[in-house]
Amino acid sequence: MLRGDKVGLRARHEDDIPVLRAELHDDVVNSSRSEAGPWRPITPGSQDPRLVVDEKQERSVQFSVVELEGGTLIGTATMWGIDTHNRFAHLGLGLLPAARGKGYGTDVVAVLCHYGFTVRGFQRLQIETLADNDAMLRAAERNGFVREGVLRSSAWVMGRFLDEVLLGLLVQEWRPAAEP
Ligand SMILES: CC(C)(COP(=O)(O)OP(=O)(O)OC[C@H]1O[C@@H](n2cnc3c(N)ncnc32)[C@H](O)[C@@H]1OP(=O)(O)O)[C@@H](O)C(=O)NCCC(=O)NCCS
Repeated sequence: MLRGDKVGLRARHEDDIPVLRAELHDDVVNSSRSEAGPWRPITPGSQDPRLVVDEKQERSVQFSVVELEGGTLIGTATMWGIDTHNRFAHLGLGLLPAARGKGYGTDVVAVLCHYGFTVRGFQRLQIETLADNDAMLRAAERNGFVREGVLRSSAWVMGRFLDEVLLGLLVQEWRPAAEP
């Protein structure tokens, strides 16, 4: 398990899946804001790749996020679009509603940076988020990500096009708070 100050990132367990489906995926508005494609239901017990990890898929790494104290499941974290030639990857995360606004998201980004830069040896990490997602923007900027641009009207979300912000962090700019 990867450890931050408050969160741990571990493998997906089978009993995480119904919780993530009910609390994250089945919230159509939240899913439409977080996922690149259209919302579609996930059948219980299916091998849907949005929740069930395919370990042969080397272009992404999916973690379940737990509270370090007690080990309770609080969300998901993903490194996706891994490009081993250009040595960069994208980060994504989603916390269960009750876990938001408590500093966990900022810590998840810190742990993903440790994984990306120290464990994987990437040169660059990037995050795309909706321009009105203040909590995600702050969690990224707290970890040193800088805004590199606005992707105008790049996301179709619940009936309208929204802008996304592209944030990037290079390994030489990264200042780990402490060894996670
Ligand atoms: C986005 C998300 C991962 C952020 O994690 P979080 O644990 O809620 O955020 P934190 O508690 O670490 O807060 C980060 C910063 O945002 C601020 N913040 C938190 N919630 C906020 C909100 N609803 N509105 C505005 N600012 C907010 C915090 O005060 C903090 O700022 P500070 O560092 O200046 O004190 C989480 O809210 C979430 O899962 N949201 C739904 C899914 C989602 O949007 N995923 C991202 C898709 S790209």
